[in-house]
Amino acid sequence: MAHEVTGVIARGKGAPVELATVLVPDPGPGEALVQVQACGVCHTDLHYREGGIGADFPYLLGHEAAGVVEAVGDGVTGLAPGDFVILNWRAVCGQCRACRRGEPWYCFATHNATQKMTLADGTVLSPALGIGAFAAKTLVAAGQCTKVSPLVRPEVAGLLGCGVMAGLGAALNTGQVGRGDSVAVIGCGGVGCAAVLGASLAGATTVIAVDIDDRKLEWAAGLGATHMVNSLRGDPVEQIRALTGGNGADVVIEAVGRPETYRQAFYARDLAGTVVLVGVPTPEMKLELPLLDVFGRGGALKSSWYGDCLPDRDFPMLTDLHLAGRLPLEKFVTETIPVDGVEEAFAKMQRGEVLRSVVTF
Ligand SMILES: NC(=O)c1ccc[n+]([C@@H]2O[C@H](COP(=O)([O-])OP(=O)(O)OC[C@H]3O[C@@H](n4cnc5c(N)ncnc54)[C@H](O)[C@@H]3O)[C@@H](O)[C@H]2O)c1
Ligand SMILES: [Zn+2]
Ligand SMILES: [Zn+2]
Repeated sequence: MAHEVTGVIARGKGAPVELATVLVPDPGPGEALVQVQACGVCHTDLHYREGGIGADFPYLLGHEAAGVVEAVGDGVTGLAPGDFVILNWRAVCGQCRACRRGEPWYCFATHNATQKMTLADGTVLSPALGIGAFAAKTLVAAGQCTKVSPLVRPEVAGLLGCGVMAGLGAALNTGQVGRGDSVAVIGCGGVGCAAVLGASLAGATTVIAVDIDDRKLEWAAGLGATHMVNSLRGDPVEQIRALTGGNGADVVIEAVGRPETYRQAFYARDLAGTVVLVGVPTPEMKLELPLLDVFGRGGALKSSWYGDCLPDRDFPMLTDLHLAGRLPLEKFVTETIPVDGVEEAFAKMQRGEVLRSVVTF
């Protein structure tokens, strides 16, 4: 029997999102039905609405969520109704070539639910990042559910399901920030601010936040940034170099997803340092760099998928740090909103008024 819930649907490129009735099947083998309690509004949802990720409309948006397992399908072990879980969009397969060589965070065959959620007329929905959690219930692969302490508030826990994990992991995992490092983060939305927090947690002594919006810089300062650079007022590359003894930062994290900010990251990095691209570009974007500079500046140019996280390893560790008062994840929740507030939340995101709006059910 299918469950009828109201979901947030993107029907076509650039069209405002709408609410529609969504039919969610009972879980089949290997699947879990989850009652969503909270789901953050991530820039990637807006990318979907704008056609920047694919053309598989209609999309069921929402992918940064926490909730309670309602039912599990045949063959599911280690997960039971009543478990409090964060949903993840990279359920590691354990069998692909990345997993077999011991690098499961790169898993090339992550899985999602097999059955489809649909509109009332049977139209198949594409769930954002294989989740689709702007709805009171969603169907996922059981491996997309990571159990964490139920003491964490859902609107806080859910953020680890995407943006906050992506940012923390860009610093901690991909960038391998270490004690005493200098780090610059370009773009301090939810993802970039989490990268600032991650760099600070890892022991970086200089953490430079760069944005074009002073509000974002203030939030970054509250999460551990030691210096703030508004790149509308002066060249960010020069300012980052000036703050790092003329050299550039050891690790520069790009959390916007644009060629011009990537170029800034590339040149604001010290020789042999690391650039981490966590911002997601759109298909038409191109990057041009002198190849001699790519060679001559050395070091590593890395992309960060989901902060190179392993949900089962990282979500419980990070929620425990939060409960111990050492990871102020609640600072990312600017507001909680009802499910019909997503379109307005996109506008607030674009105006820079929020770090995260979180839909609660
Ligand atoms: N790699 C991943 O796994 C992953 C996961 C989640 C989100 N993302 C991506 O990360 C990016 C950021 O997401 P978000 O939710 O934080 O978005 P957001 O809109 O909240 O933040 C973007 C920030 O960039 C700033 N910005 C815009 N143009 C800038 C410029 N030229 N220079 C400096 N700052 C600038 C904005 O003021 C804003 O603060 C998006 O591209 C999103 O799709 C990637
Ligand atoms: Zn794999
Ligand atoms: Zn996201």
